[in-house]
Amino acid sequence: RAAPDLAGRHVVISAGGTREAIDPVRFIGNRSSGLQGYALARTAVARGARVTVVAANVALPDPAGARVVAVESAAQMRAAVLEAAEDADAVVMAAAVADFRPADYRDSKIKKVPGAEPEPIRLVKNPDILAELSARPRGGQVVVGFAAETDDVLNAGREKLARKGCDLLVVNEVGADLAFGRPDNAAVVLAADGAETPVPRGPKEDLADVVWDLVAERLKPGAGA
Ligand code: C5P
Repeated sequence: RAAPDLAGRHVVISAGGTREAIDPVRFIGNRSSGLQGYALARTAVARGARVTVVAANVALPDPAGARVVAVESAAQMRAAVLEAAEDADAVVMAAAVADFRPADYRDSKIKKVPGAEPEPIRLVKNPDILAELSARPRGGQVVVGFAAETDDVLNAGREKLARKGCDLLVVNEVGADLAFGRPDNAAVVLAADGAETPVPRGPKEDLADVVWDLVAERLKPGAGA
């Protein structure tokens, strides 16, 4: 599939997983590899888009033809995504953004104290970038989220789509040997207009192409090249 249906469009993709620092050597992180985000980037380049990838802690070669902005934390990701989104036709939040971060960053490494229990780490909520993107006046910009769920996947996805306010939500089941770090993925893409598109297990590029098909259908005509 090589139809340049995204020619003249700018798309922003977040990829990977944020790290929330505890002290100079430790962080709270997650298992996202960035494979799905990078597959979205490669397929968008192939379809003619100008692509910005905001990559959090991704250990993969840069996708050819895309601009990659490297970030570490959710706060850095928020700043980079909001800036890149200013002139974007679509934003796809494929990254696993930490929901919480340590309330207090320690400037020095936390030490073991002999005979004492460790101090608890208090967490505070991170801003929800996807909800913020969706709530802004955005002049037809298409906003897409991802939801990795372990239980009651479809209902959880429908509820999340409504709560976040995005146009499309890709829901996939995660678990021991599903999704994370694997080259294939199975999902359902839920749309705010009620459409539900199942995507059978297959390469992450196939899911990416379905996402771009659904995005392309929802872009305002004429704005492209
Ligand atoms: O709420 P949950 O983390 O399951 O939502 C997942 C979706 O929301 C993903 O698209 C993720 O990139 C986005 N997200 C975000 N900011 C957060 C948490 C999640 O943009 N703080």
